Amino acid sequence: MSKNFNIDSDNDYNHWFDSPYYHILYENRDYKEAKKFIKKILKYLKLDKGSKILDAACGRGRHSIEIEKLGYKVLGIDLSKNSIKKAKKNENENLNFIIHDISIPLKSKFDAVFNLFTSFGYHNKKKDLDVLHAMEKNLKTGGIGIIDFFNINKIKKDLIENEIIIKKNIKFNIKRKVNQDYVNKSISFKDKKKQYNFNEKVNALSLDNFKNYLNNTNLRIQEVFGDYHLNPFDSDKSTRLIIILKKKSQSNK
Ligand SMILES: C[S@@+](CC[C@H](N)C(=O)[O-])C[C@H]1O[C@@H](n2cnc3c(N)ncnc32)[C@H](O)[C@@H]1O
Repeated sequence: MSKNFNIDSDNDYNHWFDSPYYHILYENRDYKEAKKFIKKILKYLKLDKGSKILDAACGRGRHSIEIEKLGYKVLGIDLSKNSIKKAKKNENENLNFIIHDISIPLKSKFDAVFNLFTSFGYHNKKKDLDVLHAMEKNLKTGGIGIIDFFNINKIKKDLIENEIIIKKNIKFNIKRKVNQDYVNKSISFKDKKKQYNFNEKVNALSLDNFKNYLNNTNLRIQEVFGDYHLNPFDSDKSTRLIIILKKKSQSNK
């Protein structure tokens, strides 16, 4: 029997991230990388100790855990029930996790909202804007937002169309495609005699696309970095597009 899953419609987008196979395939997306980046970015931001930080689309909480260790109060939110269940094992009075959609504003306000490691652009344009409006609403005036996305130009340049990755005896067959709208990755494999087919579709957003989105919000770009070492963004060479935002004043949207 073959199972097909997509994360590109609002009803079933979560299957891939919620599946154990996502974590098997990307086991190298580790806590070491998160620790280094969080140390660097928090040093740059100079937020007061005890500040409230929202990790929007936190996955299993690798960044949230590091942020809390450095003296901040953290709430991690994600729609993946399995990831939140795992993250909750690390909870303490300054570190909490809940299942929540990042496009829906919370009741409390935060000093900073982080959206890390390509946790944006999985839905249609309206929902992308909802995510930015929720970020805006979740921030105190003067609060800081961070969006850490891929650099679409680099993705297009370095695209490996077909790849086979073997992890835990599972042969993942990965096919990638990029067009002007999407980066599409299909992941097929067999496990315990069952065939699985997942699909991950992310909007092919450039810095200019983000600028257009942000024109509809009260979030203003403060700085743009191009990697986890916080080097300046270069649209041809940078591995990441890391946008630092500041909330001006509350809009009515
Ligand atoms: C590439 S993973 C990154 C997770 C985490 N930030 C990390 O670096 O480990 C993207 C995450 O976005 C989450 N996600 C996607 N759309 C979401 C939404 N609308 N609300 C909450 N989480 C969402 C997925 O469940 C997944 O955990």
